[in-house]
Amino acid sequence: MSSKAKEETPKAATGTITMDEIWVQGGRRLSGSVAAGGSKNATLPVLAATLLAPGVYHFTNVPVLKDISTMLQMLARFGVTSRRTDAHSIEIDTRNQKNAEAPYELVKTMRASIYVLGPLLARYGEARVSLPGGCAWGPRPVDLHIKGMEALGAVVDIDHGYIVAKADSLRGSTVSFDISSVGATGNILMAAATAAGETVIENAASEPEITALAEFLVAMGARIEGLGSPRLVVKGVPELHPADAAMIPDRIEAGTLLAAAAITGGDVEVTNVDPSHLGAVLTKFEAAGSSVERADRSVRVRAPERPEAIAVTTQPYPGFPTDMQAQFMALLSVGDGASSIVDTIYTDRFTHVAELERLGADIRVEGNTAFVQGVESLSGAPVMATDLRASAALILAGLIAGGETRVSRVYHLDRGYERLEEKLSALGASIRRVRR
Ligand code: UD1
Repeated sequence: MSSKAKEETPKAATGTITMDEIWVQGGRRLSGSVAAGGSKNATLPVLAATLLAPGVYHFTNVPVLKDISTMLQMLARFGVTSRRTDAHSIEIDTRNQKNAEAPYELVKTMRASIYVLGPLLARYGEARVSLPGGCAWGPRPVDLHIKGMEALGAVVDIDHGYIVAKADSLRGSTVSFDISSVGATGNILMAAATAAGETVIENAASEPEITALAEFLVAMGARIEGLGSPRLVVKGVPELHPADAAMIPDRIEAGTLLAAAAITGGDVEVTNVDPSHLGAVLTKFEAAGSSVERADRSVRVRAPERPEAIAVTTQPYPGFPTDMQAQFMALLSVGDGASSIVDTIYTDRFTHVAELERLGADIRVEGNTAFVQGVESLSGAPVMATDLRASAALILAGLIAGGETRVSRVYHLDRGYERLEEKLSALGASIRRVRR
């Protein structure tokens, strides 16, 4: 690790919000090889799952991200200690764990904090977790999490903005979701692992991050069948024990880096990825004219000068992920023709549209569909990141825009991308972080 990187780690670890900006000089074709990091969205529930059994845990391929430090701060509220044993490894000690409240000031900064609900309820028979509140692109309910806990026998009340769940003992049940929810599936898996009897989750999320959580719970002694499928069966065990795990690669970071290749007409290999997790995304790169080479642990995208126009619809896994929607909007904004992007998961996740328009993109939103009329070129401008994936989209657009694009509020970016600017710079981008 460089000395610069060392300096930055404590800042990320304390979760300080910075007003840093990312400045990009567009027009450079990216090429070379770059490694994706460990998955943020797989690490978060795994960290919460450590609340299920006292002991010491070791995790590798853990990304250095604000969201991860937020979860560690949350665990600290419950007496859990953590330390980084090297740049991407972490040790968690839950031996002195206690029950406590998951406070609003942490939950509001990261919705995934709700992952502590299931483990606390399972371990203590009681959990008090703040409601997360809204999000930049609209309300994001937690009714499915609550429904799941109730199905397992908990009594759940909302008290002054807190979810208060109580159960003398949890018992297995069938939970059937109308909507596939990553978070609710994860929460129920954790709560059900030590519930009496059998729990069946119908229409369970089958995202790789949920499969990774299920595999981790199995390593802790849980009995779970149907991994990777939309029907998960949990056979409750009396207790779990600590386990060690390597975090799976971050498919969204990998997809974003490949999108950087695609938007600049570049040729980039991303390593430390599982190409099978990126199926729908890679198919869309191909539809947009790129050649895609899938290897065991890497993917290479070779892009034409200008992407072709395509239609994209987000779906639960294995469909096209909503977390790649904004990045594809940036890509298709310079496509050859008219593209459409439908987000069926978050129907108003379009705050990046206005910012992309500032760079010259031609996008019209109707309901949950964005009609993107590709333009021949974008031009640099000051823009503002509005959420995590939107910030990545603006940086991608900046890579191809003429002149300089200055992206502000990159604290959103830092929640989920570890040194994206350094990775892009290593591929030949002219990009730098300006500290504020
Ligand atoms: C996770 C990911 C997020 C991704 C999302 C969808 C993490 C930490 N975050 O979020 O990056 O964008 O999956 O792939 O892994 N819903 C309800 N009620 C609920 C819960 C969800 O109606 O109680 C709805 C949501 O509004 C949304 C859909 O279900 O329309 C899917 O959301 P969900 O899969 O739960 O997203 P998260 O787990 O919050």
